[in-house]
Amino acid sequence: MGTPKSPVVQEVGPGELEEVIKMDLECDLEIMRLNGKKPSNIKSFARIHRNNFLAAYNEPVEQRIFGAKVGNALVGFVWVRIEPEIEEMVPVGFVESIFVKSEYRGNGLGKALIRSAERFCKGKGVSRLELVVNAKNRSAIDFYRSMGFKARRYTLERRLVPAR
Ligand SMILES: CC(C)(COP(=O)(O)OP(=O)(O)OC[C@H]1O[C@@H](n2cnc3c(N)ncnc32)[C@H](O)[C@@H]1OP(=O)(O)O)[C@@H](O)C(=O)NCCC(=O)NCCS
Repeated sequence: MGTPKSPVVQEVGPGELEEVIKMDLECDLEIMRLNGKKPSNIKSFARIHRNNFLAAYNEPVEQRIFGAKVGNALVGFVWVRIEPEIEEMVPVGFVESIFVKSEYRGNGLGKALIRSAERFCKGKGVSRLELVVNAKNRSAIDFYRSMGFKARRYTLERRLVPAR
């Protein structure tokens, strides 16, 4: 596959943002599939996804997107934001999204991306990195656990109407 042993991870430039948005859409679709769902209209889903992404990205918070590159090709990214934590009201790093293209997984790129997010947060004086993961996304949960992440709180839900 030609993936280098030492992945190149660097902050993405403005010209790479549309590529990141495409990967983030791919990430959302992959997670929807785990839940047996798919958008009824992919074009309008992609448009809404892009608008939501840009709305969050344009918020005035400290944030960075780091990209994993193989040669000139962007094959993964992590988007990290510094946000107030709701229980202790200290700023924490929040991994908004992380994705590696399927053919490049298992080569250490995800780990290198998380390390970049960590370095960014530490540089801002932030001592904790958090994220939310879908309970059905077992492989991502295993990935995070292998990197030392532990559950801190649970989101619980109960159906009020039968599943459609
Ligand atoms: C999660 C994801 C980013 C991981 O990226 P990756 O490049 O495959 O991960 P790495 O190769 O860096 O793996 C790092 C560590 O996690 C472990 N790991 C990765 N995937 C794993 C899996 N499916 N099961 C168990 N361990 C796993 C590796 O063994 C490795 O540990 P090691 O360094 O001790 O060997 C990637 O699988 C992905 O993009 N998934 C789809 C999108 C997604 O689910 N994003 C998260 C949404 S919350």
